[in-house]
Amino acid sequence: MTDRYAVFGNPIRHSKSPKIHGMFAAETAQLLCYEAILAPVDAFEASFRTFVANQGLGANVTVPFKEQAFALCDELSEQAQLAGAVNTLSVLSDGRVRGDNTDGLGLVADLQRQFGSLKGLNILLVGAGGAARGCVLPLLQADIAKLTIVNRTQSKAEALVDIFSQFGNISTLPIEHTAQSYDVIINSTSSSLSGDVPNISSQTIAEDTVCYDMMYGKEQTSFNSWALAHGAKQAVDGLGMLVGQAAQSFLIWRNVKPGVETVLSQLRSEL
Ligand code: ATR
Repeated sequence: MTDRYAVFGNPIRHSKSPKIHGMFAAETAQLLCYEAILAPVDAFEASFRTFVANQGLGANVTVPFKEQAFALCDELSEQAQLAGAVNTLSVLSDGRVRGDNTDGLGLVADLQRQFGSLKGLNILLVGAGGAARGCVLPLLQADIAKLTIVNRTQSKAEALVDIFSQFGNISTLPIEHTAQSYDVIINSTSSSLSGDVPNISSQTIAEDTVCYDMMYGKEQTSFNSWALAHGAKQAVDGLGMLVGQAAQSFLIWRNVKPGVETVLSQLRSEL
């Protein structure tokens, strides 16, 4: 039987993961199938266990199941442990389930692909929800100089600083007090979904500042429009992060690193 993988979510119909992994498999000549599974909101674990009983080897997990996936794992990577969420499940040869979180590595890989090395950079991370939390450790491990987290609800940014301060130079300040400029500004909030822009000062943008919105779409996101209007050197969206996290999952499962460029241009053309 062909090796079986899947993505679980609710909703799941518009997931790009089957297409991405299908293209990775073709490119790397790996024989596998990858499907999208709609799990009931109250029965993710049962749905995943059924998949495993039917020879499922690994799965991606998306909204709203990443915390439930975390809870069912027998073993967790350090990154998943600290993220408090799992987007990649692997069934080990002894039947135990291992959880990883590749979202942050996907982000860092995409930042490096588009902007070069992050070594020594001063980075502003806007937002302190699940998406931000998943990225903090990979950012700190990319040899950056300093990570500043700001969020509409300041206490959530403080909680992240408490969790991650042992891993690197990380701090927070009230979002309305941002005044200095940064090398990279990453928007992890969902504000662009509603056409909003987080309340950071335009002084965070200098002529060399590059901006990254984890959201993506056919049109420029509201955050990226704002960034470019205030003089950012470049502003890119999160499509590359999506493909990057998938590439990291594929590597975990198949021990082969797929290329991302072909998949990215294909997805971009279909937005
Ligand atoms: P995710 O898992 O996608 O990060 P989340 O955990 O609900 O989702 O977090 C959403 C993030 O976007 C939070 O940082 C939220 O700010 P609050 O913590 O203050 O709620 C932020 N956010 C959402 N809409 C926003 C908006 N219109 N302006 C600024 N921040 C926004």
